[in-house]
Amino acid sequence: MNEPIKPVTPLPSAMAPPPKAESDTTLYGGAPALRRTKHVTRQTLLERKKRGERFSCLTAYDATMAQIFDEAGIDLLLVGDSVGNVVQGHETTIPVTLDEIIYHTKAVMRGVSRAMVVADMPFMSYQISPEEAFRNAGRLMKEAGASAVKLEGGRRVLEIVAHISDSGIPVMGHLGLTPQSIHQFGSYRTRGTDKKEAEQILRDARDLERAGCFAIVLEKIPAELARQITAALTIPTIGIGAGVHCDGQILVYTDMLGITNDFQPRFVRRYDVMRERMLEAVGQYINDVRGATFPSEEESY
Ligand code: KIV
Repeated sequence: MNEPIKPVTPLPSAMAPPPKAESDTTLYGGAPALRRTKHVTRQTLLERKKRGERFSCLTAYDATMAQIFDEAGIDLLLVGDSVGNVVQGHETTIPVTLDEIIYHTKAVMRGVSRAMVVADMPFMSYQISPEEAFRNAGRLMKEAGASAVKLEGGRRVLEIVAHISDSGIPVMGHLGLTPQSIHQFGSYRTRGTDKKEAEQILRDARDLERAGCFAIVLEKIPAELARQITAALTIPTIGIGAGVHCDGQILVYTDMLGITNDFQPRFVRRYDVMRERMLEAVGQYINDVRGATFPSEEESY
């Protein structure tokens, strides 16, 4: 006959692990929640705006770069559809697909422990209907792990923003020079320079906030217009070519590190000229291989 199953003896209380303090970053236990404690959220950004503290954002498309930016203390990483230009070598962001953004967002997520990760909704992934927009935004959150999505436009996307955000996915807006509309604009010139367009951008910003956006990117608009928008909204603004008055700033990392050499508009500050240092390092490697000085004995088994 089988032995009767003995009840498990409870640990004496002196041996039991101490209870963990209640956390406001997780509801259920588990490894990923432990890894991403204290990460930046939409609330963090909102509180920063209230306290008048600026925050910093960069684009990222892979785990290695995301890890470096995260370690440096960046607050937010955008998996932008600029991946089309930077990584894929396209002239515009238009060819980028949802599956490609999902792929890059997954990689970025593996590199970060603190920064908030926002995934861009590419052209044609949100314009068709609010339902389709929500399904695609849901994939960016559920499959890729993004904390929020970004989409471009004002009046014409209000219903879409409201539907996605009411369904539980934080939405970042994007106004001014919106690159997915390049063929409609016809050029990459500064937007909102005339009174009518400036008033429309300000109206769009107010409407996006009302529709549920938690932040808005302002791209290539006059600094004074960005100042007025930032003052008019309770949600943070994030500037790129929009002057110093925005609550946060964002740059495409390859421009900011000087990796790209064919693009240097006045709004990009180059913090390094990595392209030259990379050319030098790779040139040195090529010479060492040609001269049979790499690998050395110490670098061999
Ligand atoms: O796609 C992108 O990288 C962007 C930022 C430049 C704001 O939209």
